[in-house]
Formats: sequence, C-alpha cells, structure tokens
Amino acid sequence: MMNIGLLGFGVVGRGVYEQVDKRSDLHISRVLVRRDIPEIGAIATRDFQEIVNDPAIHIVVEVLGGLHPAYEYICAALRAGKHVVTANKAVVSAYYHELTSLARDNGVALRCTAAVGGGIPWLVNLERCCRLDTVEEVCGIMNGTSNYIMDAMHRSPVNFDEVLCQAQALGYAEADPSADIDGDDIRRKLVISANIAFTTLLREEEIPMFGIRTVTDEDIAAFHERGLVCKLLATARRTPEGIAAWLEPTLVDDNALEAAVPANYNLISFQSRYLGRQSYFGQGAGRFPTASNVTQDCLDIAAGKTAFYAPSGAAQTPRNESVCHAYYVRTAYSDPWLTAHTREPMGLGVLTDSVSVAEMHRWANAQRQRDSHCFIAALP
Ligand code: HSE
Repeated sequence: MMNIGLLGFGVVGRGVYEQVDKRSDLHISRVLVRRDIPEIGAIATRDFQEIVNDPAIHIVVEVLGGLHPAYEYICAALRAGKHVVTANKAVVSAYYHELTSLARDNGVALRCTAAVGGGIPWLVNLERCCRLDTVEEVCGIMNGTSNYIMDAMHRSPVNFDEVLCQAQALGYAEADPSADIDGDDIRRKLVISANIAFTTLLREEEIPMFGIRTVTDEDIAAFHERGLVCKLLATARRTPEGIAAWLEPTLVDDNALEAAVPANYNLISFQSRYLGRQSYFGQGAGRFPTASNVTQDCLDIAAGKTAFYAPSGAAQTPRNESVCHAYYVRTAYSDPWLTAHTREPMGLGVLTDSVSVAEMHRWANAQRQRDSHCFIAALP
C-alpha cells in the first residue's frame, strides 16, 4: 500500500481523490487544502509540513498548479525522499533541470504524465519510443481549451468569449485562460515533450508563439472557402542547425487528422526513424481524464518505476531560421516587409510567400504593437 499526500483539491485533485478512494493499493492519507472541505474530514490539513514530515507518506501528488508554492513543495518532498507526481506543466517546464536533478540525486521518482495531454499517455509512450528510436519531430494539438474554441468557431459563427466561458465551466481552462488562448500553456507542454524527445533543455521564453485571441469569423470563412481548418499547433523538430520549436495557428487540409479533432480533445504526434508518424488522441483536459494519468503515475511508482522519462540534456536555443512556409496574415496596417512577401489576397488578409518561422514571428511580434488585432496562421 502506497500512502499519498495530495496537494490541492481542485478540478484534478478531486478526481484523483475519487479514483484512489476506490483502490486498495493506493491510499490518500493527507490532503493539503486552502479552505474547509467537510467531505474529506480529518485528513485535510492547511500545513504542508504535516505532509512532508510524515514518514508514512510515500508519494506527494501536486495538483495545485502555478509556480509557487508548488515548486518549493515539490523540492521539499523530493529532498525528504518522497516520490512526486505532478500535473503541473508550468513548474516542470520552468524548473525541468532542477527538479529532474533533485529527483535523481535523492533516488526518488518524479512523474508528470498528466502535465502534457491531460489523460493521454503521451509522455510514457514518448519515453518508450526514445529508448529504442530517434525522434525527429513532436507536434500537434496540445491544449483542450483552445481546440474547444477553434472547433466551435468552425462549426458555426460563435462569440469567442462565450465559448471560452463554456470551456472554463467544463474545467478545461487554466485559472488564467489567457495561458490557453495565447499559447503559454502549450509552450510549457512543448518544452517538456521536446526535452524528453531530444534530450535537451529548452526555455519557454525562447520559443516563439502566436495564439488564437484575434481570430475572427471572417478569417474562418476565408479558410473554409479553401477547404482549410485552423488549429493551434505546436512543433519541435530536429534540423541540421539544432532544435526548431514554435507554436502558431496552422491551416490544415480539411482531410487532415488534426482537422477532425473535436471539443477538448488533443492529438499529439511524434515522427521517429523506425515508427514513422505515430499519433495519440484523447481528452487533453478535464477532471477524470487528467486525474487518470496522475493515478497511473502513482501506480507506476508503486510498481517500482523511479527513472524520469529521459536523461537530462544540455540547454539549447530554438533554431527556427531553416523552417519555412507560407502564412495567412490579416492586419489593418501593411508595411514594406509584408508587401514584399505578399503572394496573393486571401479573405480580409493576404497569403505570403514562403518565409522562415523565425522571421515571421519577429515581424508578427513587432506588428502586434501597432495592430493588436492582427492575426497570422501558417500554411505549411
Ligand atoms: N488548460 C489546459 C487545456 C488543461 O485546456 O488543455 C490541460 O493541460
């Protein structure tokens, strides 16, 4: 029997509690809460020390979210010789090197399968792929909330804020949903996936991103007209210059697998030398899907699995100069760069010739200062 100290009793914490409650091999002996929760009775505590200093607790499950105090709690638990399971992509992405080193040095497990893809066993399968094969690319739809919004917008003209509220009510969105629609949440998942896939160490801040905040019904209509579907895709790829990594709205053919991904579902793929392309589809957010991966991590630890998904790698800056494709660009203020790169009109915007991801995102970042409503979407 493995005793668990559960940190947090929100959407995911409640799910873990309910799943573990039904089992005889795992037991939740303490729950760290911020407010009274009568249904869990005497095992609730507001004092983390009661968990970290309890020698009977084997696994600390962190589902508080946010960087602090999650980081401090995870470090303290690892130093105290406790295994840690977390669904917190923000903390794993920001402190990847520190946390994986600390777990290794203390001979305990750090597992975070639910941090990428919610209920999809993506990281565990990426780990299996990497131990035999060479991964060339990881990519896909890694955020349930933004997919929920894009899916709704493609089905019928809808109010962006209304659909976002629905995603929040369903427990898909982050506490601050701008992380979902502007890309920060996806960037964290991309960092964790790429670090494991390529044995490297990327920094969130260095990965260019463009979200879906400014997409309009007119944009979607122009995409429909050409048989295209817009999805927010993240990609990290081996190139001769190093690891390329970026995320942006992307126009895929309406027959593509990604185009068919509905609601809060994610579709995450790798491309490897032996396997070719392999894709993982499932619910990327929500209470029980996410809790399932947390509980599965606890079961893996109970079965003796303590190694992290991949060894630590060296820090690298993403190299996006050699990845080139066309873009749909809609802006109220054109400029000489855009005019020089325009191939043809498209809806209320233009289609560019092939430009590098690095160059496009540099331009788009500057353009957003002049036109906060501008929108770009890649057409690979
Ligand atoms: N807010 C995230 C999403 C939750 O919508 O995908 C799962 O990481």
